Amino acid sequence: MTPADVRSLFPILAERAYLFSGGIAPASSPMLTAIEHHLAALTHNTGDLYVDFMDEPRALRERFAALLGADEDEIVINDSTSAGSSLAVSLVEPTPGGNVVFDGFPYPSSVYPWMFPPRDILERRFVQPRDGLIHVEDMARAIDDNTVAVSVSHVTPAQGFRHDIGALADMAHAHGAALLVDGAQSAGALNIDLHASGVDFFATTAMKWLLGAAGLGFLYVAKRHLDRQPPTAGWVSTSQTDMERLRLQSSAERFQLGMPNLMGVAASLPGIDILLETGMDVVETHVLDLTGYCIEGLRERGIAVRTPSDPAKRGGVIAAELPEAGELQAFLTARGVDTYNAGELFRVDPHIFNNRADIDRLLAGIDAFRSGAKK
Ligand SMILES: Cc1ncc(COP(=O)(O)O)c(C=O)c1O
Repeated sequence: MTPADVRSLFPILAERAYLFSGGIAPASSPMLTAIEHHLAALTHNTGDLYVDFMDEPRALRERFAALLGADEDEIVINDSTSAGSSLAVSLVEPTPGGNVVFDGFPYPSSVYPWMFPPRDILERRFVQPRDGLIHVEDMARAIDDNTVAVSVSHVTPAQGFRHDIGALADMAHAHGAALLVDGAQSAGALNIDLHASGVDFFATTAMKWLLGAAGLGFLYVAKRHLDRQPPTAGWVSTSQTDMERLRLQSSAERFQLGMPNLMGVAASLPGIDILLETGMDVVETHVLDLTGYCIEGLRERGIAVRTPSDPAKRGGVIAAELPEAGELQAFLTARGVDTYNAGELFRVDPHIFNNRADIDRLLAGIDAFRSGAKK
C-alpha cells in the first residue's frame, strides 16, 4: 500500500487535516468494519466468541511482533502504555544502593511506578538536556554499576526528541542494567526492530501511531526475561487449575491476568495490518519527510520548534513553544486542522495517511491566525 492508498482508508481526511496521531488515531474504514463484525458476533454468535476468545488476541500479538521485530511469545496484551510501563518496573529487582536513570524529558508513567515500595529505595537520576538534546555521553556518565534500569520514552511527547535505543541498551547492559522503553510515540511511526535494538521492555498503546483502539496496550518482554516472577497472577497466567501449586506460562502470557479487551483487540488488528502492508520503512520515510517539511515551515515563520531537525533524532511528533498555542489550536480546529496544545506547547503529529497538502493547510492556517483573522 502506498501512503495515498492508506489515506483513502481514513474518512476524516475527506474533510479535515488530521495531525494529531500522537494523541489518538482516527478510525479507518477497516477498523469500522472490524468493530461491526465484532458486534455482530457478540450479538449472534456469542458462545463461539467466548470459545474462540484467544484467536484474535493471538493474531494481534503475532502481527504486533512482526511489525516490531519480536516474537509472539514476548508480547503481553494489556490496556495501556502506562500499564505496560508499570508492569515492566515490577519485573526489575530493587537492589539496595541501586539507581534508575531517566532523561530530563520523562513521562509520568515511566517515573511514578518507581516511587512505590519496594522500589522507592532506588536513587532516581535525571539526565538533563543540553541545547535541547539528551546527549548519549551524558546518559553514559549517569549509568554505573549500581544502575538497575534505564528508563526513557523512545520519542518524547513534549519535545519530539528520539533516543538511540540501541546505544542505550548497549550502555545499560554493559553495567548489568535493563533498558525500559516507553514506545507510545514511536511504535507505528518508526521502523523498530526490538530484537536488534537489545531493548529489555517496551510498552506502548494501540490508539496512537498503531492506528488502533484506546484501552488496548502492549508490553514486549525480551525472551531472556520471560522467567521473571509476575507481581500477581490470574487464570491466563497459568495453564492449569491446581490450587496447590502455581505453574506459570512460559510465554509472556504469564504476565496477563484475565480476559483481554476483545472489542479493542478486534478494533486494533486492522491498523497493524495497514502498517504491515505498507511496510514500516515506507511509513518511517514518509513520517520523517512530513515532519521535516513541517519543521521547516514553522521555523520560516519564526516559531520556536523544540524538535531536532536531524531526522535521526526525531519521529512523528513536532513540538514547538508558542505563547498563543491554545488560541492557535482552537483557531485551526475551527478551520478543519487538528493539532494539540498544552499550555505553551504546540504539537503537530503527521502520520502515514497525511500528505504535504495537510501541512500546507496547517501553515496557511497559522498565517491566517497571525494576520488577524482570529475566527
Ligand atoms: C510517551 C507517552 N507515554 C504514555 C502515554 C500515555 O499512554 P497510555 O494512555 O497508553 O498510558 C503518552 C500519551 O500521550 C505518551 O506520550
